[in-house]
Amino acid sequence: MTAAPPSAAYLYERVRRVIPPIEWPAFSDDIDAILALKRERNAVILAHNYQTPEIFHCVADIVGDSLALARKAMDVDADIIVLAGVHFMAETAKLLNPDKTVLIPDLEAGCSLAESITAQDVRLMRQRYPGVPIVTYVNTSAAVKAESDICCTSGNAKKVVESLGVPRVIMLPDEYLARNIAAETDVEIIAWTGHCEVHERFTPADIRDLREAHPGVIVLAHPECPPDVVAEADFSGSTAAMSDYVGREKPKRVVLMTECSMSDNVAVEHPEVDFIRPCNLCPHMKRITLANIRSALKENRHSVTIDPQVADRARRAVERMLAI
Ligand code: 13P
Ligand code: SF4
Repeated sequence: MTAAPPSAAYLYERVRRVIPPIEWPAFSDDIDAILALKRERNAVILAHNYQTPEIFHCVADIVGDSLALARKAMDVDADIIVLAGVHFMAETAKLLNPDKTVLIPDLEAGCSLAESITAQDVRLMRQRYPGVPIVTYVNTSAAVKAESDICCTSGNAKKVVESLGVPRVIMLPDEYLARNIAAETDVEIIAWTGHCEVHERFTPADIRDLREAHPGVIVLAHPECPPDVVAEADFSGSTAAMSDYVGREKPKRVVLMTECSMSDNVAVEHPEVDFIRPCNLCPHMKRITLANIRSALKENRHSVTIDPQVADRARRAVERMLAI
């Protein structure tokens, strides 16, 4: 077995259960450089729960689900924020930190949900359903947020919908999240037809097969999964809610119906839990690597900019959500 080099070796202890020793030398040089660049440039790294363990556990300062990243972005005391996640997350951080530099290491790190709807689509929905409030998932562009009344994440969608005190809302763009929330509330929900390309691929048959192969396994599903998948699961919640469930309930054996890195990251904290790992990769999240985080910090790229007129309206929708 190849020994970890001495420099970032102490960090290897955190991830040794999910990164084989032979892979570590390929990471440690970038990790050392990133840690030094963060100090030099007064930068922090925010990483989503779907980032790979060498990013999530070794260079990130703040980790979490989309809601936590948005909340914690407001308290950042640094000149530069590097968003290890997808573009809409970087835009949200920029909306909340207009005077800071927000960097996304790869501009192509998108999201099938954000791609599924335009600002013009939202304006047409408003015309079609006059007076019905528009709740927009954070997995959207700033331009789409700017046309909305309030944002939500998978962690607070029900709360946001019910906070409006109306019998009917429009919820964009994730059809499955909208239908999963509709099943939990009396508020009528008008949905769009966007889907997450990662979660839409799970099926109820996958869960039945898993239960047969691993008797007693506890199944957790993200609410971007189709409603028939959520119905077969033992629990559904945001990435943070799934992680909290594992910490709280300590199931003997668990499966997370979500993106692949999530199990690795949670497994690091819970060596006593057996993780069964059928999962789907998010190609957008996987565009972020140690190498491009290092380049981002060194070369100040890619700096997120948002048209100020769009930004003011989009910020209102995000801040309204955060006030709940
Ligand atoms: P969370 O808000 O649950 O972290 O989800 C974000 C996401 O992109 C899920 O696919
Ligand atoms: Fe978008 Fe789905 Fe990837 Fe999340 S997992 S960033 S919703 S494509």
